[in-house]
This record gives sequence, C-alpha cells and structure tokens, in this order.
Amino acid sequence: MTTLQGLFQDYAHKLQVLYPKQEAESLVLWLFEAYLGKKRMDILKNENLETLPSGLTLAMENLLVGMPIQYILGKAPFYGREFEVSPSVLIPRSETEELVHLILKENPKEGLRILDIGTGSGCIPISLDLEMNTPTVFGIDISEEALEIAKRNAGLLQSKVAFSRMDILKEDLPFEDLDIIVSNPPYVRYSEKELMHTNVLAHEPHLALFVYDEDPLLFYSVVSQKAKNSLKPGGKIYFEINEAFGKETRHLMEKSGYEEVTIFEDLNGKQRMIRGVKGKGIDRQ
Ligand SMILES: C[S@@+](CC[C@H](N)C(=O)[O-])C[C@H]1O[C@@H](n2cnc3c(N)ncnc32)[C@H](O)[C@@H]1O
Repeated sequence: MTTLQGLFQDYAHKLQVLYPKQEAESLVLWLFEAYLGKKRMDILKNENLETLPSGLTLAMENLLVGMPIQYILGKAPFYGREFEVSPSVLIPRSETEELVHLILKENPKEGLRILDIGTGSGCIPISLDLEMNTPTVFGIDISEEALEIAKRNAGLLQSKVAFSRMDILKEDLPFEDLDIIVSNPPYVRYSEKELMHTNVLAHEPHLALFVYDEDPLLFYSVVSQKAKNSLKPGGKIYFEINEAFGKETRHLMEKSGYEEVTIFEDLNGKQRMIRGVKGKGIDRQ
C-alpha cells in the first residue's frame, strides 16, 4: 500500500529527468485527476491508495518515454473546448488559438465561407464554425488519419465543418467564393530539429511539422497562388508563420498580389501570424 503523497513525490521525481520540477508536478497532477479523480487538495490530505489503476501505471510509463500528456489522455484544450487528439495529429498550440482569435476579431460578419488548409485535429475550422454566425466552413488535409480525428471532433462538438482529403501541393482547390482561407502549414525546417524538445520530435507527426531547408516557404507560396482562384475579391488569407520568416513571407504574399499584408505578433512578442487581402484586380491563375 502507498499514500497519495508518496506516489506523487515518486512520480514527480522520476519525471524530472525530462521536465523541470514545476512542469513534472503539474503533469502528475493531470494524471492523478484523469485516472484517480484526485486533485491537489486530496494529495495534501495524504489518503492511502489501496490499488493503482493499470491505466495510471501505463500512462506514467508513456510520460517517462516523453510521450506528450495530450496523446496519453487523448485530448487537448483549444479555444475553450476539448479536442480529441492522437499521434496522427499535431497537438493544437496556443499560438494557433491566437490566430483563431485574430480571424474572429477581424471578421464579425455573418454567413462567411471559410477554408482551412492542413487542418489536423480540425481545431481551427471547428472553432471558427462554432464561434461565428452562420458560416460555411471547410477543412482539408493530406492525412486520412488526421481527417478521421477532425471528423470525430466535429461530431463530438456538434460542428458542421465539411472535411475532405487533398494534397495542396499537387491538386487545385475545388472551392469558390471564399471569404477566408486560413492555414497553419508545416513550417519547421529540418535544420531546426535539434532545437526541439524530444517529446515533440519522437511523438508528433513529422508530416505536420517539417519542410525542407531549401524551400521553407513552399506551402506559403503554393497556398498564396492557389487561393487566388478560390477567394472572392476582398477575401482574406491568414497564415500562422515561422517567426524566423516574417519578412520573407510578407514579401512572398505581396509578390503574389495580396494587399494590406500585415504581420501580427503573438502574446510572447513573436511574429507568428500574417494576413493579406485579395485586391480587386488580383490575377486569377
Ligand atoms: C502544422 S499542422 C497544423 C494542424 C492544425 N491545423 C493545427 O493548427 O493544429 C499541418 C497540417 O498540414 C497537413 N499537411 C501536410 N502536408 C500537406 C499537403 N501536402 N496537403 C494538405 N495538407 C498537408 C498535415 O497533415 C498537418 O495536419
């Protein structure tokens, strides 16, 4: 038999091989809440634990090999809702919540038609669909596994986003009269890999993260070109961007003919979002 406090200290201590103390402790609290229904207050009371649920022991083993807790629990918070996640989708990030927030703030009209490219868990289009007034929202991704999760999230959250499979690098967009195209495409260069935490590298889908160093803005240029045929005049394009490439992305969008191209900083003061407007005279290709 062990006590809740003893187990907490043991787990938090073991996790400090991978995480700073405070993060290790909050991960253990997260596990205790999910598998034991116990909160910090219960740990302070130091109850006895008769048996350990096998799920908890397995979850701890997974944490110790660096698996992100969101994959272990199968869910992640995003813009006030809980999204199902699996290792075939990127874990939604807080920067992306800021992108959703920017789009909502700049587009209060009702009945907008929106497309999300590289949708992953579906966190962007589902959030826009549920926060906006009577929009029509589409999401595309190259990964069937990701689309399955996105569709399940739409069902669970009662959203009517229509998802379909497409390779944006190879196919043309079959959408017309869109008001908004949004994308958080793969944008981490392979050379940036060493800077990333092992739990991202070993567990998150590389298809969602990486681009070749020779052409780090590939998705931005392809999407900017293809979007011209699908956006209405005055329609807008929003991207999440690699903070190292703000200026280059703006230049690329301006060269493609977008107007009012503006870079936005996230809460940490990093250049993380960009928006451009399809001018009335932009060439269709
Ligand atoms: C950075 S993740 C973004 C996921 C999600 N939108 C988010 O913000 O959490 C990029 C997504 O693009 C998808 N993707 C990669 N290559 C693609 C391609 N050629 N065509 C369409 N989607 C692609 C990946 O499967 C992945 O889901």
